[in-house]
Order: sequence, then C-alpha cells, then structure tokens
Amino acid sequence: METLGVELGERSYPIHIGPGLLMQLRQCLPPLAGRQLLVVTNDTIAPLYLEPVLASLQDYETSSLILPDGEQFKTLDTLNRIFTCLLERRHSRTTTLIALGGGVIGDITGFAAAAYQRGVDFIQIPTTLLAQVDSSVGGKTGVNHPLGKNMIGAFHQPRAVIADTDTLNTLPPRELAAGLAEVIKYGLIRDLTFLDWIETNMPRLVAREPDAMTYAIRRSCEIKAEVVAADEREGGLRAILNLGHTFGHAIEAAQGYGQWLHGEAVAAGMVMALELSARLGNLRPEQVARGRAIIAAAGLPVQGPAGMSVDSYLEKMAVDKKNVDARLRLVLLEAMGSAIVTTDFDPEQLRATLHDCTAQA
Ligand code: NAD
Ligand code: GLY
Repeated sequence: METLGVELGERSYPIHIGPGLLMQLRQCLPPLAGRQLLVVTNDTIAPLYLEPVLASLQDYETSSLILPDGEQFKTLDTLNRIFTCLLERRHSRTTTLIALGGGVIGDITGFAAAAYQRGVDFIQIPTTLLAQVDSSVGGKTGVNHPLGKNMIGAFHQPRAVIADTDTLNTLPPRELAAGLAEVIKYGLIRDLTFLDWIETNMPRLVAREPDAMTYAIRRSCEIKAEVVAADEREGGLRAILNLGHTFGHAIEAAQGYGQWLHGEAVAAGMVMALELSARLGNLRPEQVARGRAIIAAAGLPVQGPAGMSVDSYLEKMAVDKKNVDARLRLVLLEAMGSAIVTTDFDPEQLRATLHDCTAQA
C-alpha cells in the first residue's frame, strides 16, 4: 500500500492506494467520531464489493444504502433518500458516511455528509479509475440541477481516501478510458514528464497492468493533492483541474446526463481547449496533434457529438461555475504541460474554434 497526504491543516487526510484494501479497511480507517457507519453505494457495485466492505467493518454499527446506478440519479431527490435513511436509522452527528463507488456515489455521499446535521465525517472508497485519480480527492461534493451540472454542492473534505486498485479489474473498458482522460489531463496541465510517461505507457494502462495503473493513480493524486493544498476552494489555481471541462459539461448537458460519460466529454473538451490554445498562439499544430493522439490512444473521443451546434455549446458553456460576472473563463494551455485560467480571449476565436470542431464531428 502506498500512502500520500492531502495537506490542509486540521482537515488533512491520507490517500491509501494499493491492491486488496477492501479486505483490510480497518487498518486504513482514520480515528472515527463514533461507531455508526453508513455505506452508500449503488446496485452495480453492491453485488461486487459491498460484502467484503461490510465484513471488514463488522466491528462497527454498519449498515448500507443501495442507490440506483447512474449520473441521472445524481439529484436532490436521491440526496434526500440518503437523509431519510440516516434519520430513519437514527444516525447522530458522530456518524460516518462511506462512499463506495465511482464519482457519482462519491459526490452525492460527500454532499450528504456536508449537510446532514450541518456536517458529519465521510470516507471515500473510490472504485472507478476516474474516482481514484480525481473525484475522491479534494472535497468537491454535489449534485446536478436540470439547468447545470454539479451546480448544487459544497466543499467538504473526506477523512480518508482508500483506493483499492483491484476494483479496477471489473470496470467496463469505456469507464476505464473515461478515467484515463483525467490522467492525461494532469500531464497536460502540470507535468510534461508525466505526459511523456503516459504517452509511452498507454498500452500498459489500457491493458490495466497493475504497476502502470498504480503509478498513474499515484502521480495523478500527487498532482491533485498539490493543487488542492494550494487552493482548496478554487480561488484561482485549482480551476486548472478543469481543463476541457467547460466544453465537456456543455456536451454532457446537451446530450442529457448519462449519455456521454463525464471522462469522454472531458476528452473531447480537452481537444477543443488545445485547439483554442493553438489558435491563440500558445501551442504549435503538432502539439495539438500529439495531445489528440494520446487521447485517441486511450480509446477516447477526440470530437464532440455529431449535430451539436456552436450556439448549443456557447449556451451551455455560459452556465459554468468558473465564469466571472457572466464572462466566460476557460482553462487553456500556455504551453504543453502548463495550464492557465483566462477570460483573455476574443469570443470570435472561441466561436471559430467551435465552428471547426463541430464541422469535424
Ligand atoms: P460513475 O460513478 O457513474 O461510475 C461509472 C460506472 O461504473 C457506474 O455504472 C458505476 O456503477 C460503475 N462502477 C463503479 N465502480 C465499478 C467497478 N469497480 N466495477 C464495475 N463497475 C463499476 O462515474 P465516474 O466516472 O466514476 O464519475 C463521474 C462523476 O464524477 C460525474 O458525476 C462527475 O461530475 C464527477 N466528478 C467529480 C469530481 C470532483 O472533484 N468531485 C471530479 C471529476 C468528476
Ligand atoms: N475535478 C476538479 C476539481 O476537483 O477541482
């Protein structure tokens, strides 16, 4: 097991990464406020992993709640189901919620923990690659609103992240690729050496070689932990973690949540961000082509859905948490391996980029 830290003063916490951790959860748990635990998971993950989790937590007063699977259930209604369950089972303020699943379960359980009785502890047990490299770390929690993704939520850090790499063996290939999108993102925004490594080792990652996966997860978590420690509440730097996400959120919202996977939408969105960066003179065409090839090698889309218009992108992109006073703020590259967050671009350059990207789709 490898352990990294997210350094946030009294809210610091460990990220444990390794095989077989579900069987040894007790050794990974931080000190708990009380003895009540609620494991929140979904009906895909429960048959695979709930039993070992409950078995390794049998010394506590542990129960579980199984939600329906899907981004379309990341809603206030589902959140209310968690509150109802906690109240019916008389969970007090010393309870701890455990999110067992991907980013959807992690985000909604974390938000429930942030709000239940004004805040209780929670632990992330991420079971998708995307959740292990991104969503379980950093304390962003929330649900979707019909008018915008992740629009209702809170910053609430977990007490620990426990990433059992064995769980990735049951992940469908499309979900694995979606997680690789976020791994590639870290290389593009912050670490050219890591991007080189990803490019060379992509066949090993696609084949889920344990050593390669563990390295990719560790390096991704190191980068995320460093950025979150520097800017927990996204006053500035943290926004770079959203490379491709503004375009990607537009795709997700336009297609209906759950049609395009988050990571797939981010992948196509990162290509759009690279194209706009090149149009602004920050990247050379061959660097855009390189980024595009790395994304394609992961089995990810490099263009948005057919039939989505420029205006449809712009309309959806106008609803984004990074925007300032209704001005669109985007994450772009100033160079390969180095991201900036900027409002400093001509809207016509964005429109022209979207025009080219939608014409190819
Ligand atoms: P997900 O949670 O929907 O999981 C993907 C699918 O894989 C689901 O069907 C799930 O049931 C299944 N699954 C999970 N683990 C499995 C396993 N080990 N074996 C087999 N199937 C498994 O999607 P995701 O990609 O993990 O997360 C996407 C969500 O995360 C989005 O809602 C996105 O907004 C959010 N997100 C949040 C942050 C953050 O910082 N909080 C960052 C990135 C993404
Ligand atoms: N996934 C973006 C963030 O955590 O800030």
